[in-house]
Amino acid sequence: MAIEERDEHSGYLTTGHEWNGITELNRPVPLVVWLFLAATVIFSVIYWILMPAWPQIDSYTKGILGANQRAVLVEDINKAAAQRVEWMRQIEALSFAAIQADGSLMRIARQTGRTLFQDNCGACHGMRAQGGPGFPRLTDDAWLWGSNPEDIEELIRVGINSSHDDTRFAQMPPFGAGGMLEREAVLDLVTYVRSLSGAESEGADRPEALAAGKKVFDVYCVGCHNRDGTGNPKMGAPNLTDDFWIYGGDPQSVYLSVYQGRQGHMPHWEGRLSALQRKIITLFVLDQKSVAQ
Ligand code: HEC
Ligand code: HEC
Repeated sequence: MAIEERDEHSGYLTTGHEWNGITELNRPVPLVVWLFLAATVIFSVIYWILMPAWPQIDSYTKGILGANQRAVLVEDINKAAAQRVEWMRQIEALSFAAIQADGSLMRIARQTGRTLFQDNCGACHGMRAQGGPGFPRLTDDAWLWGSNPEDIEELIRVGINSSHDDTRFAQMPPFGAGGMLEREAVLDLVTYVRSLSGAESEGADRPEALAAGKKVFDVYCVGCHNRDGTGNPKMGAPNLTDDFWIYGGDPQSVYLSVYQGRQGHMPHWEGRLSALQRKIITLFVLDQKSVAQ
């Protein structure tokens, strides 16, 4: 390749580089590129003067604007902490009703509560508190141990059949397995119990089973589930007349509940979550209930 090769179309010298027959013209760098380069150099000099820039041995050039991202960050953190202290103090001090009436506090309780709930409770009660077999749904109206916010807060503190000293005891006795009732009587009870919530339509054409079931119920079950089957929150005994079942309302599940008994285990949260966190979770759970309705 000749040293000085000219492009025959434009008349310019080429650089001598060639790629698949395409040669590069030897032309000066366009003015706009020089201008752009000059602008960036000027910008950086101005930036050095105004802003922190060059490291020195034990310091750095501070720049005449005195900008300091670290100070801004510390200020932001302090501001957020002050706000946090403020809402934490309010949630700690105010009653449930007062917090529930305060939109901005509820917004915080919802956000913080969701994270706390999903981290600590979601594994059993479902991420949206929807429950599952053996784990009660927390978005319905059926509360085992009372529906006041204070009842729920206290329940979260002590748990059910937990290792806490103040735990609630939920003991549905194993009537069949424990030898208190014959299989026949348990089957009659299943018919009767299911009829309480209207689930047992075929009970209507087996009046003798229904009557026998009621008789056994009145002897063995009313102490905890009440005469009308609505359940006694002092015993944690569920309402059997509604549509909510912890363990399932089909004949097989009701049979197992009565035959084998049920002793659900709900861990206690005192010592694992602070009083404030438990209050926030309580607010979240009650709020989920209103969302689900
Ligand atoms: C290891 C599983 C498990 C975890 C984790 C758990 N629970 Fe429970 N929870 C249960 C079970 C089981 C019951 C029902 C106990 C029973 O049947 O008597 C229950 C019952 C409840 C009840 C009463 C429900 C009702 O209908 O009255 C509430 C409220 C509750 N849990 C809230 C929570 C909250 C809030 C958390 C998180 C801080 C949580 N639970 C974490 C298993 C769990
Ligand atoms: C000592 C109190 C007590 C007595 C007596 C008792 N129960 Fe229960 N029962 C409970 C408790 C507490 C639960 C909830 C257990 C749990 O969730 O772990 C329960 C749960 C149930 C359930 C499951 C409900 C659901 O939502 O899945 C059925 C069904 C039931 N009982 C029927 C009966 C019948 C029928 C009798 C009488 C033969 C009876 N119980 C007697 C305390 C009692």
